[in-house]
Amino acid sequence: MKYMINIVAIVLLFIGCASDNGNKMSLDESEFGLRSASLYSENVDLRDFAYSTTPAGESTNIERAYENAPPMIPHDVEGMLDITRDYNACIDCHSRQNAPLMNATPVPLSHTYDTFSDKQKDSIVDSRYNCNLCHTPQANVSPLVGNNFKPEFRSSDGKSKSNLLEVLDEGVK
Ligand code: HEC
Ligand code: HEC
Repeated sequence: MKYMINIVAIVLLFIGCASDNGNKMSLDESEFGLRSASLYSENVDLRDFAYSTTPAGESTNIERAYENAPPMIPHDVEGMLDITRDYNACIDCHSRQNAPLMNATPVPLSHTYDTFSDKQKDSIVDSRYNCNLCHTPQANVSPLVGNNFKPEFRSSDGKSKSNLLEVLDEGVK
C-alpha cells in the first residue's frame, strides 16, 4: 500500500512539473522582483520622482493611512536630515512647547512618555528622537502594485489626529 502511494506521489509530482513549464508558471531567478532589469544587473534606472518642495508652514497635512498611523511629512525636509545627536530641526517646530507658535502639530503624548519608568516627561523621549524612522516625506510616485486596503477610523477626527497613548492598553486586562 505504501509503495502504491509513493508511486502516485511521484507521478503527480511529474505532472505538476510538466504543467508548470508548459504554462511558464516558473520564473527564471534573474526575473524576480518588480524592476525591469535582471536581478543580477547593477544598472537599474530609477523612475523620475520628486519629494515635496513646499516649505514647512505652507504645505497641507496628508490624511492618516489608518487609525494612529504615524502621519507622513507633507513639507520639504531639505536641510533637516540627517538627524544627529546635536541636530534635530523637527523638534524645534514640533515639540509640545514650540508647535503652537509654529502652527505645527505638536508631538503626541506618546512621544514624551517613558515606557521604561512609566512616567510622562517634559521632553521627547530617546526612543522617539529619530523622527524619520517612522515619519517619512512623500514623493509623487504611483505604486507598482495596487493596494485595496481601506482604513476604518473609529472616530471622525482619526484621519487627522492621534491618541495612541490613550488606547495603548485597550483590550489588556
Ligand atoms: C520650520 C518648522 C518645521 C520643521 C523644522 C519641521 N516641521 Fe513638520 N510641520 C511643520 C508645519 C507648520 C506643519 C503643518 C503643515 C504645514 O503648514 O506645512 C508640519 C507638518 C508635519 C507633519 C504632519 C502632521 C500631521 O498632523 O499630519 C509631520 C509628520 C511632520 N511635520 C514631521 C516633521 C519632521 C519629521 C520634521 C524633521 C525632519 C519636521 N516635521 C520639521 C513645521 C515644521
Ligand atoms: C517609533 C516611531 C516614531 C518615532 C521615532 C516618532 N514618531 Fe511621531 N508618531 C508615531 C506614531 C505611530 C504616531 C501616531 C500615534 C500616536 O503616537 O499618537 C505619531 C504621531 C505624531 C504626530 C501627530 C500628533 C497628533 O496629535 O496627531 C506628530 C506631529 C509626530 N508624531 C511628530 C514626530 C516627531 C517630530 C518625531 C521626532 C522628534 C517623531 N514624531 C518620532 C511614530 C513615531
